[in-house]
Amino acid sequence: LRPLLEEIEVLKAERNAVVLAHNYMTPDIFHGVSDLKGDSLALAHMANETEADVIVMAGVHFMAETAKIANPDKTVLIPDLEAGCSLADAVTAADVRELRRLHPGVPVVTYVNTSAEVKAETDICCTSANAIEVVESLGVDRVIFLPDEYLGKWVAANTEVEIIPWRGHCEVHEQFNAEVVREYRSQFPGVRVLAHPECDLDVLRASDMVGSTSGMISYLAEERPRKAVLITECSMSDNVSADYPEIDFVRSCTLCPHMKKITLERILDSLKYRRFEVEIDPEIARRASRAVERMLEVGRGPRG
Ligand code: 13P
Ligand code: SF4
Repeated sequence: LRPLLEEIEVLKAERNAVVLAHNYMTPDIFHGVSDLKGDSLALAHMANETEADVIVMAGVHFMAETAKIANPDKTVLIPDLEAGCSLADAVTAADVRELRRLHPGVPVVTYVNTSAEVKAETDICCTSANAIEVVESLGVDRVIFLPDEYLGKWVAANTEVEIIPWRGHCEVHEQFNAEVVREYRSQFPGVRVLAHPECDLDVLRASDMVGSTSGMISYLAEERPRKAVLITECSMSDNVSADYPEIDFVRSCTLCPHMKKITLERILDSLKYRRFEVEIDPEIARRASRAVERMLEVGRGPRG
């Protein structure tokens, strides 16, 4: 492992590159080669602020596109083009135009887990860390919220704003149900249950805390429960347990097949061969950047 890590460090220095890693990366990437790490919102802010010439996104494609939208002049690399997302695949730009036709004048709030083309049709983006704040920032009674039906339900349960939903789901988080939470509680008495808002409302209502991946880490840092289960992608617990060895993590092994496409070897090749470069049509990027920038102005979320 060490020669691989060293080779990556040398190439990063040569190319003035940074590796941005999502919280779902495996620990060798997360603790071994990442320069900056976080949830989707933090990664978007970091991509906006970095002085590096090259950004390697150790995450999925929509995260790399978001980084490119914020930094049209930088080289943004995604180590595997197949690292997609079931939510991003659930809605197209034509779907958004049709929704606008059906609901004239109603603003469109789009989760960042979408393509640049969808973002270009959007009024403002959001992430799981700031969705409620973003929806409320518009000062309207109704919004079109897409593509995540479950995140939309969570927002609707926590604001007065009416949500016009879409039918996208995360293929990882939709696997959980409230029964799973009850089983954790009966098998591991006293366990603190933290859930990602891409889960169905029943799961969220049965949990002790709901938040983005970084929101979960901040909660654990503050509360230091003895036992915890993270209702989200499996690598999260591996990464956080290295920083908080005193917390006993009950593992919920659901892996995101897209995130797991990113490996140390592919990061090395990405730096070596400058691949795969994210390119966005300049007009799409210009329109999408309004929605992303508008979101970044709302802030870093309550636990960002
Ligand atoms: P976060 O923004 O909470 O890290 O979530 C991103 C994601 O893809 C969760 O499945
Ligand atoms: Fe997409 Fe779900 Fe994977 Fe996150 S965990 S990248 S939402 S498929």
